Amino acid sequence: MEYVTLNNGVKMPMAGIGTFLLSPDEAEASVLSALENGYRLIDTANAYVNEKAVGRAMKKSGVPREEIFLETKLWPAFYEQEDAVEKTLERLDTDYIDLLLIHQPAGNYIAGYRQMEKAYKGGKVKAIGLSNFSEKMIREILEICEVKPAILQTEVHPYSQEKQLKKFLQQEGMVIQAWYPLGHGDKALIQESVFTELAEKYHKSNAQIILRWHIQSGNIVIPGSKNPDHIKDNFDLFDFTLTDEEMDRIAAMDQQKRYYVSTPELLQKYAEMVPPVDEQK
Ligand SMILES: NC(=O)c1ccc[n+]([C@@H]2O[C@H](COP(=O)([O-])OP(=O)(O)OC[C@H]3O[C@@H](n4cnc5c(N)ncnc54)[C@H](OP(=O)(O)O)[C@@H]3O)[C@@H](O)[C@H]2O)c1
Repeated sequence: MEYVTLNNGVKMPMAGIGTFLLSPDEAEASVLSALENGYRLIDTANAYVNEKAVGRAMKKSGVPREEIFLETKLWPAFYEQEDAVEKTLERLDTDYIDLLLIHQPAGNYIAGYRQMEKAYKGGKVKAIGLSNFSEKMIREILEICEVKPAILQTEVHPYSQEKQLKKFLQQEGMVIQAWYPLGHGDKALIQESVFTELAEKYHKSNAQIILRWHIQSGNIVIPGSKNPDHIKDNFDLFDFTLTDEEMDRIAAMDQQKRYYVSTPELLQKYAEMVPPVDEQK
């Protein structure tokens, strides 16, 4: 495993498992399988409505809590709810969260950020960060914050490499975490001939080549999967290194093509949506 040290000294694994769109049963099985295969970073969110299942998988795994890096995200509906972090901790059945993010720049996200700062100062959260924020929106947080965000989680993959944004984050001492690291499973991306060629060379799968490219590019990855073979493969990334020339070939694939495009209408919808967090299994 490779690690990155966040701007407050917290050490974070570079590869983990994502749980977006997983039902509670699926999330429990995937997270348990991941922990059994050596993963120590788990990404969930209030809005995934599977935090309880993630908590169960952590307990079932027998892996000591302090060895796990647990990441979750506050949803806009809870930004102004004073007990939002406490409720999140209860669902996850844990005393602390390793990394808490503002999930979307929607609604009163400044209030959400203030809540995260309070939880950070109270020791309930070890690091805080942002998700789906543009450079302009990050600057707004940097101007008002007491605790600097450590990380931005956003869409990154070979078709959308966010080179400019990464430069800005680096200047600000923030790291990037890639969601949709495999293009949400897009076959056109995964089956690009360059990945097939490199997969043959290194005796790896195309997905492993993409994930290795992320890690060598400094992108923390959290691929999602329900398939135990994929879960195993997606962590088996640390016994080979792409050459500079191979990294350059993948860098040249950037076409600033995103699978998800944020709009004011979507953000308004998010601000109004209340996920059924209390009804989850
Ligand atoms: N902050 C945000 O707003 C946000 C948004 C989206 C996602 N996320 C986070 O980022 C994580 C990753 O995103 P994602 O799961 O949507 O997309 P992804 O990781 O890019 O792709 C997942 C898809 O790829 C397939 N896959 C996984 N490993 C594979 C492999 N080795 N070979 C071939 N196919 C493979 C999976 O299918 P199988 O199940 O068959 O393996 C699944 O369909 C999420 O789970 C979530 O934690 C955050």
